[in-house]
Amino acid sequence: MKPIGLIASESSENEARVILNQSEEKRVKVEDLVLVDNRNEGKILAVLRRGRGVNENLKAGGYNPGVAYARAGGPPSTAKETYDFTLSVIGEVKETIEQNKKILAPGSIVYLFEDKDDPMRYLAGAKHRHTVGCYEGHPSWLVPVDETFIPYHIGVFASTGGGKSFLARFQLIPMFLNAGFDVLVLDWKGRDYAPYYQKQNTISISEIALDPETVVSYLCKKMGNFGYSGQQARGTVTQALEEFTYSESWRGLSVEEFRRVLYTTVSKSLNPKNLGSGKPFEDQQRFERSYRRLKDSDIQTILGTLSAEDLLRLVRERRLIVVDMKKTGKDEKLSVFLTFARYLMDLMQNDEDLNLALVIDEGPQYCPFNPDGIQRETTDIIIDLCALGRSHKLCICILSQGIAGEIGINAAVRRNLNTQFVGKIHPLDINEAGNWLSPFNIDPKFLLSLPPGHFYFMGNMNPSPIPLLITFEVK
Ligand SMILES: Nc1ncnc2c1ncn2[C@@H]1O[C@H](COP(=O)(O)OP(=O)(O)OP(=O)(O)O)[C@@H](O)[C@H]1O
Ligand SMILES: [Mg+2]
Repeated sequence: MKPIGLIASESSENEARVILNQSEEKRVKVEDLVLVDNRNEGKILAVLRRGRGVNENLKAGGYNPGVAYARAGGPPSTAKETYDFTLSVIGEVKETIEQNKKILAPGSIVYLFEDKDDPMRYLAGAKHRHTVGCYEGHPSWLVPVDETFIPYHIGVFASTGGGKSFLARFQLIPMFLNAGFDVLVLDWKGRDYAPYYQKQNTISISEIALDPETVVSYLCKKMGNFGYSGQQARGTVTQALEEFTYSESWRGLSVEEFRRVLYTTVSKSLNPKNLGSGKPFEDQQRFERSYRRLKDSDIQTILGTLSAEDLLRLVRERRLIVVDMKKTGKDEKLSVFLTFARYLMDLMQNDEDLNLALVIDEGPQYCPFNPDGIQRETTDIIIDLCALGRSHKLCICILSQGIAGEIGINAAVRRNLNTQFVGKIHPLDINEAGNWLSPFNIDPKFLLSLPPGHFYFMGNMNPSPIPLLITFEVK
């Protein structure tokens, strides 16, 4: 530990400014960790933020001899130059870190942690055995996590290329596994996870069977909802299709067989002898028009045979499964998710503990800002999963390019993600990021230029009450 400066006047128990000793400004950086030897007793762990350089002779916006001299090309005097940082208190160092309640005495000496004196041990104590990444600039300072809050759900936010999928792959997934959670990853594009895991840990989305409820809404959508809209959105033909789907008579058929059985069964139930809607001809026409829109590839999607139960069994056996979702459309992907999510809901409603982490990459596809149609269903079920998951050891981990508004995820879902990793943000998110980070003296503009793989870690899982800047090495 090396002394670097002292606490300036107007300090409080939460923050203070640190005046740097001569030449320390060349070495000390924003986000460096320091220890204050408080003259009012106690050792205080803190982080440096919002640096400032002041030179009395170079005050802009007014005339003075120093400015005039510099303007004429003379070297500016450094006699009246000072540098300072805002210091944000993490806590008082005792057995573990405790809330600091004493004022930092002006003049107290501030020491910088060097690489060899790892301050993370104070945060970890004996309690927290698991870590996520390392403190920025110090690969040997592994950042501890409070694993009791894993089922309080996680949000990872960074604009495209910010390193979200890498964070999940290199840090979060290994952390889940170490903490005893099995992991199911939904790889939306099939490019971020599936290629990097062994074959036995990946399955293709087309192998998964859909539940009848999902098949009905999927087929309706693919057949243009039989031309129904508004008030009559669920007409006679829809009912006939439901009857057919719930009969499960189509499971295990080939595409051609499915087509034939669908046609004959639905046509038969549209027959006036069976239903008597009064408009049998019109209904049959409506059905046939829609039926012709159904493509073989649409049918292929619903013919998978792996049930949600089988999928979970596979996750249990192998501990990690990546669902490769490439080559299918958005509705199919969301349908598969819905089927599995409904099954998890059933298990939790029967009071089963899951010990499962669900990694949802491309979050806005599942729970957008303003959901509609099948996305309304997926958003609602994610909210339910979050609510029940807390007490049944289910962790929902959502990755998203945006935080709020049109580029972000649904506000009700976001409120349920109690741990956040925020990396390089999109300028549209500056207000939301500011709401989260400004109270901790982090300038949201600093987040616009974070390099890939750098994240502020905050929320329940962070043993520090204030956000910490973490990163990780890519092996
Ligand atoms: N810790 C890291 N160190 C160095 N480079 C990194 C790190 N993390 C990510 N990167 C780089 O950033 C690139 C983008 O990462 P990644 O694919 O995880 O971004 P993303 O946020 O998931 O983007 P998208 O929203 O487009 O999916 C990687 O290809 C890698 O080169
Ligand atoms: Mg990604």
